[in-house]
Amino acid sequence: MSENISVLGLGLMGAALADSLLAAGHRVTVWNRTADKAAPLVAKGATRGVTPAEAVEAASLVIVCVLDYPATKDILRDASLDGRVVANLTTGRPAEAREMASWVAERGAEYLDGGIMAVPQMIATPGALILYSGSEQAYDRYEQAFAPMARPRYVGAEPGMAALLDLAMLTGMYGQIAGFLEAAALVTSAKYPLKDFTAELLVPWLNAMAAQQPVWAEKIESGDHRTEVSNLEVNRAGMENLARAFAEQGVGLDLLLPMKTIIDRRVARGLAHEGLSGLIEEL
Ligand SMILES: NC(=O)c1ccc[n+]([C@@H]2O[C@H](COP(=O)([O-])OP(=O)(O)OC[C@H]3O[C@@H](n4cnc5c(N)ncnc54)[C@H](OP(=O)(O)O)[C@@H]3O)[C@@H](O)[C@H]2O)c1
Repeated sequence: MSENISVLGLGLMGAALADSLLAAGHRVTVWNRTADKAAPLVAKGATRGVTPAEAVEAASLVIVCVLDYPATKDILRDASLDGRVVANLTTGRPAEAREMASWVAERGAEYLDGGIMAVPQMIATPGALILYSGSEQAYDRYEQAFAPMARPRYVGAEPGMAALLDLAMLTGMYGQIAGFLEAAALVTSAKYPLKDFTAELLVPWLNAMAAQQPVWAEKIESGDHRTEVSNLEVNRAGMENLARAFAEQGVGLDLLLPMKTIIDRRVARGLAHEGLSGLIEEL
């Protein structure tokens, strides 16, 4: 079903979102602070709103994707939101999303907050995901309309949940990048071909390890950190070994040392029999 949708914010991400909605046959109105960024979308059939208020007026679903939440508020302040759905796909913190939900509700609109798990080039491809939280009624109403941008996933009525899960996913990613960089520094210090190591050894190993994470999640939820895999004493010795090997190889272990500190702390508390999942209690 073709919908009237407005997209406010045509940076790299907003433009990709608007483009995907146009390609799916929706009637799209666009607005951007720097007006000429609307031109390629207008050439493809979008209507240009001269002001944010005019763009909001044109649609019952208003998608915002700008730099931050203060900019989102600036844009929407003079618009008539009453009876509309605002889907804010701007990246922010959970507390900002909750505050924005109240601000939008005071103006008579329903609110969805979104976390985009993709880069602009991935929009409208199968790998892209957008998390939504907030009004379930609004999500149900527009789930189909969201689909051309990226696979939509509703994660609950608490407006801050999409932002929190977005941050959690980025956290997992940064941890993985930290591990990769440390491994790469060690491998290159020995002049072993890094591309071979990465493709043939590291990636299959990481995939096998990642497959264990749902088991860890179960342990963490149950609070039972006993292990049949390797206890903290074994990991403490392993980390000691790692730290010494890095030092002997002349490579810094800065990105991973905090983990060693936390293992040492947990062992010092007399919990050497636990598995690594127990480290979460120290966080
Ligand atoms: N790019 C990514 O890979 C990616 C991935 C996930 C999420 N996101 C999120 O998507 C959002 C937009 O990112 P982007 O990549 O599109 O950034 P971008 O290319 O730098 O575009 C920023 C957009 O925000 C607008 N803007 C900034 N300050 C404004 C203000 N005070 N008032 C009105 N408009 C303002 C800009 O307008 P002008 O054109 O006039 O400057 C532009 O439309 C961010 O929250 C970002 O975290 C991006």
